[in-house]
Amino acid sequence: MSADDRPLSLETRVVHAGEPEPRIGGALVTPVFQSSTYVDDGSREYHDLPYLRLNNSPNHATLHRKLADLEGAESALVTSSGMGAISTALFGTLRAGDHVLAQEGLYGGTHTLFAHDLPALGISHDFVDLRDPDSWRARLRPETRAFYVETITNPLLTVGDLPAVVAFCRSHGLLGMIDNTLATPVNCNPLAIGFDLVVHSATKYLNGHSDIVAGVIAGSAEMILACKRKLDHLGATLDPHACFLLQRGIRTLALRVERQNANALTLATMLSTHPAVSRVNYPGLDTHPDHERASAFLRGFGGLLSFDHAAGAEGARRTVEALTIATGAVSLGGVETLVTLPAETSHAGLSVAERRKIGIGDGLVRVAVGIEGANDLCADFASALDGSVAT
Ligand SMILES: Cc1ncc(COP(=O)(O)O)c(C=O)c1O
Repeated sequence: MSADDRPLSLETRVVHAGEPEPRIGGALVTPVFQSSTYVDDGSREYHDLPYLRLNNSPNHATLHRKLADLEGAESALVTSSGMGAISTALFGTLRAGDHVLAQEGLYGGTHTLFAHDLPALGISHDFVDLRDPDSWRARLRPETRAFYVETITNPLLTVGDLPAVVAFCRSHGLLGMIDNTLATPVNCNPLAIGFDLVVHSATKYLNGHSDIVAGVIAGSAEMILACKRKLDHLGATLDPHACFLLQRGIRTLALRVERQNANALTLATMLSTHPAVSRVNYPGLDTHPDHERASAFLRGFGGLLSFDHAAGAEGARRTVEALTIATGAVSLGGVETLVTLPAETSHAGLSVAERRKIGIGDGLVRVAVGIEGANDLCADFASALDGSVAT
């Protein structure tokens, strides 16, 4: 709260929320506590012992407070990667015998976790189409415990009816879990819509500089405690130096994401007029099928977009090779623009049939738009696309 009790804006909170008061040793920035263990006074139980794997260094504590504030959660927990957050959140809340409804078209790593790893531990799932609530009811079982979705999907940029998912979870006693990586707390706060647990790959926008991998789980104090106890044993702890970099990255989150929202809309608009592009996926375009629904609960549409090259895989490859500002690399959410062909990278773990079913063609190009000048990006893509159709 501000001095006159007004709620503080996100722009202010990314800078100030969660910072230690008083500052540790007077240091304005929480220094890197490069120590695996701390002097123990003998008064604590196992999970509270001051030991790095138990996720309680001063670097962790600062980040936990800041991230809880940004997601409007009681508590938050950082992990050593986004997949570390997702697997910890699932292991921390589910048991053998449980069943999960999961959105079709999830990030490839999460899809594979549901499809191949969790069944071996006795946790079953059904992938459901978020546009078809009748199919959710049809797949519901007495042992269904959770519904797992993404705010905006990667790489097809669909936005489901999230308030309807929350209502369904409430009426059937399910835990609502959501990956908010693509939207970030700048564009959406899923807990405010009614979800129970939020996860992030902090590798992406939260850190924003393509120099660490990290993850976040945010939710009620009780659920985060259960996840922390699981994480203490799984050992997917975030290194203190990575904590330091993540904390530094978050301070510019609002500025970066606002620019990425604007750049992505400008680039998506240009791409949708280019003859070498047969389809553009960006929920900020008013031609996108989810635009109206998404506008009701997203404050911005994010920095990720994808498009189909009219000439398929060959055309897509020629375009990526001809780009001079955008770089061919996996990942997203950094300050620099990156491009990938999802069929060959993030979704290579899926069979061709699985990819076709969720709409990922071989000519799909995913663009993670950075903070460069929008005119430079548009010129780079226009020129690469022009060259990709030349005979
Ligand atoms: C939406 C989403 N969730 C989770 C992940 C996994 O994150 P990490 O690579 O940090 O484990 C990714 C990675 O690309 C992602 O795009």
